[in-house]
Amino acid sequence: MALAKGKRLNPLNIELDTLLAAGPLPAADVMALALYHPQHGYYRRAVGPWGFEGKDYYTALDLGPLLGQALALRLKQAWERLGRPAEFTILEAGAGRGWLGRDILNAAAGPFAASLRYIHLDDNKAARTAAEEALAPFLATGRAWFMRECECLEPFLGAVLSNELFDALPAQPWRWDGQQWVREMLTETGPEWQAHHEPMSAAWFESQNGSIESGDGSVWCESLPMVASTLANALRAGLFITIDYGDLAPRLLAKGADLRRYKGHTVDGKWWEEVGQCDLTADVDFTRLSTILEDTGLVEVAHESLSRWIRAHAPLTEWEAQWQALETAIRIKRMENLLQLTMPSMMGERFRVLEGWRWDSC
Ligand SMILES: C[S@@+](CC[C@H](N)C(=O)[O-])C[C@H]1O[C@@H](n2cnc3c(N)ncnc32)[C@H](O)[C@@H]1O
Repeated sequence: MALAKGKRLNPLNIELDTLLAAGPLPAADVMALALYHPQHGYYRRAVGPWGFEGKDYYTALDLGPLLGQALALRLKQAWERLGRPAEFTILEAGAGRGWLGRDILNAAAGPFAASLRYIHLDDNKAARTAAEEALAPFLATGRAWFMRECECLEPFLGAVLSNELFDALPAQPWRWDGQQWVREMLTETGPEWQAHHEPMSAAWFESQNGSIESGDGSVWCESLPMVASTLANALRAGLFITIDYGDLAPRLLAKGADLRRYKGHTVDGKWWEEVGQCDLTADVDFTRLSTILEDTGLVEVAHESLSRWIRAHAPLTEWEAQWQALETAIRIKRMENLLQLTMPSMMGERFRVLEGWRWDSC
């Protein structure tokens, strides 16, 4: 690929040039390399990408503790539904800095809090370092610990949780060109759509829209069944809950979902540029994720916008009363936090919350 001078200093670009000399690469392979190359991947770096100034993107957790507080209540309901077990384990996958775990553990109280065990799962070095600090009081008392991706867990009672995990899994953009399916590839001269037959993705897209038109298409995440079912199967009984960017399959197909690149709080579609230096994400196909989870035996699988979920499950009246006692600056921050989670133009409609339930299979 013709790269500007200086970009060749990026070791991933050098590796990519060698790979491209042997032939074009599917966009999903470039995304996998960009995010998870063992030495130079974006999520294998020592410095994390999350936050505001000088960082690439923020998540709901940077905005304040309200998502964690609302989740703590939802998890408490799950604990009650399970008959208040003495141990209620929360496994958070793609847990990043551990801020969601910290907010949940801080918000929990009484016998529910006493039952909580929080497991942080994320092999990202920067995440681990930040999580050691955020979770320090809970690590010290044995209420939180770290798990490695290769470790196995005995199925447990409790909850499996994730925030922005599935949108970070490598995904392949596909389009219908009017006659055939084409996939986005990286060649030595740049990105190109090339014809390819892949029966699984084609069958899925066609089953989701009976009248696909030229230009329609979506993203296909190869590892979604494996990652989602491994997590769901870790749950002996309890709640599966995930929060992510994404939409229903027919809506993704109609909009021509593609990969997005985040750097310095700007977003564009140039996934092939500055590989390993930027975040790459893909919309989550919630229709497909629901089907995969139902196949693992989860029941009551449903998803809705984050905005609706917050309005249904957060104690808005109680929060309003509690915030009156806070200093003005903090009260304003809480209001902003709530607006970001619920406003359609912010996270409210761009994010969805999926829940599923497992009754004890033993
Ligand atoms: C977009 S970040 C979200 C981090 C955090 N949940 C947050 O909201 O700030 C995605 C995280 O998922 C992690 N990840 C990707 N694939 C994973 C997998 N198969 N298992 C566990 N973590 C994974 C990455 O290392 C990265 O830290």
